[in-house]
Amino acid sequence: MVNNALRRALTINSVPANIILLTAMASYGAMIFAIIQGWPLWAVVVVTILTWLPVVSMEVGWTYRHYEWLALFYVLVLINAGHFMEHVVQMTQIHILGVAPKNAKGIISQLDTEWIHFSANLITLLLVLVLLSRFRQNVWLWVTAVVGTWHVIEHSYILNVYLQTGVTSSPGLLTKGGALGGGLPFIRPDMHFIYNLLVTVPLMLAFAYQLRRTYNEWLAKAFPHVAEDRLVEATSHLQALKLSAGATLVRQGDAADRFYIITQGEVAVTHRDEAGQENPVATLGPGQFFGEMGLLANAPRTATVTARTDVEVLAMDRNTFSGVVDSSETTAQDLAETVAQRRVALSS
Ligand code: CMP
Repeated sequence: MVNNALRRALTINSVPANIILLTAMASYGAMIFAIIQGWPLWAVVVVTILTWLPVVSMEVGWTYRHYEWLALFYVLVLINAGHFMEHVVQMTQIHILGVAPKNAKGIISQLDTEWIHFSANLITLLLVLVLLSRFRQNVWLWVTAVVGTWHVIEHSYILNVYLQTGVTSSPGLLTKGGALGGGLPFIRPDMHFIYNLLVTVPLMLAFAYQLRRTYNEWLAKAFPHVAEDRLVEATSHLQALKLSAGATLVRQGDAADRFYIITQGEVAVTHRDEAGQENPVATLGPGQFFGEMGLLANAPRTATVTARTDVEVLAMDRNTFSGVVDSSETTAQDLAETVAQRRVALSS
């Protein structure tokens, strides 16, 4: 289950493998170009990362269409990962490279301003709170919210000191020399690295928790009476496929092996009569499914299904399909009704 959830989190569904490869090459190329041009380290890092922006945006969009609010979780995890890396680099600069704390500004030193620290942590907290409104059961998200709130309080105090006095990098509340009883024995970069760690760890656990409980919304729409844990289980067996207009997904007479839910585009269902004439039977679109008749009857495909436009479908293997149908009597009945109606249309 954990592996399935992890695999799902790491799989890029929205973009074909060749585009990912191209992006990786472009990113590498941009990095080499920037190094040869003698750009500063921060600029090299920014161009290397920015090349991935189109792929990441497509993937977030895809995740939103399939898992709704989980997409926001992805965005938050990515933002936090970037923030965390900055802290790790800063720790490396201070404790391994021996850079003086006031000069250790991470990779993108321009980001080391009190306004940016305050805003970044506030935005993170707001995103966590939005997610909490949706995922209330997620205990780790509550932990993230509590630590995040304290961190924002601390940065509000620091920002206030800066606005009142112009002093940057002040110790705030809990850093060594801080306003709360002189603070803890940690200098500011160390203390804020600890804060960041205390946000990042529960956030990752919250993400893992949610991934393991998330099911594909299209699957839930196709099977509204199936229990959530069964939907979660089945989701880990789904395969998202993209096909171009004109592609054949299912051919009449072939053996039936998979069930499909359409998530984008339209397909045409056609039936070949005894005279060999191909007759249109139906057009199916997002939310509708096909391939159930062959699987349920354990018989060859009753019709041919062709992509009318570019389409995206979720494919489910026979075992998963049977597991879903057998888990709910209402679902089995609904399907039997659909099949009966489709049979009538096939023979008319
Ligand atoms: P299956 O027989 O496995 O493969 C062809 C699919 O076309 C079939 O399952 C149904 O899902 C679909 N199909 C057949 N007849 C109709 C119909 N009348 N309306 C919509 N879809 C149909």
